[in-house]
Amino acid sequence: MQNDILKILVTEKEIEETTERIAAEIDRDYAGKSEHLVLLGILKGSVPFLAELMKKIKSNPEIELMKVSSYGKGTRSSGSVKIILDWQRENIEECDIIVVEDIIDSGRTLSYLCEYLKQKGAKSVRTCTLLDKPSRREVEFEPDYCGIQVPDEFVVGFGLDYDEMYRALPYIGVLKPEVYTK
Ligand code: PRP
Repeated sequence: MQNDILKILVTEKEIEETTERIAAEIDRDYAGKSEHLVLLGILKGSVPFLAELMKKIKSNPEIELMKVSSYGKGTRSSGSVKIILDWQRENIEECDIIVVEDIIDSGRTLSYLCEYLKQKGAKSVRTCTLLDKPSRREVEFEPDYCGIQVPDEFVVGFGLDYDEMYRALPYIGVLKPEVYTK
């Protein structure tokens, strides 16, 4: 599998340091200020980042999960978002939600989810991403907590997949073009 990786873009150490930095930012903003600080991981890509982040946050975060799928990904014509697994709790109006993502690309998923959660009555909604690809934006969107900006390359690992593979890699790598142009 390692043979399919062209180069490592973000090392395990950089992921660790970035996660620590973001956890400290979240603690700075929420410590003692929230009854229900909820980290809302978006399946599946956010799972490794969520798992690391929750361990490093000291303000007793709670965990929820949602799954969405976007139509017409990579095309400009579509880009609507469909909810596959919805918010499950009843007390959303007591929840300060931080939506946790592995990557922001077009910005459509987080833009949609923020609006959706606010309309459902969330006390507050912020966003957090490990990686950001600002060059791919189709809608204006800035995360509240941002890890590392990456160039427009095919990145996999630490949650990010190609055809469901490579999610378990402990680092972020660039996939060799011959793997996805076969
Ligand atoms: C990825 C990522 C975000 C979304 C970002 O998920 O985890 O949810 O795409 O893209 P956007 O900014 O263009 O909306 P994906 O749909 O690949 O699902 P996965 O997490 O299950 O791999």
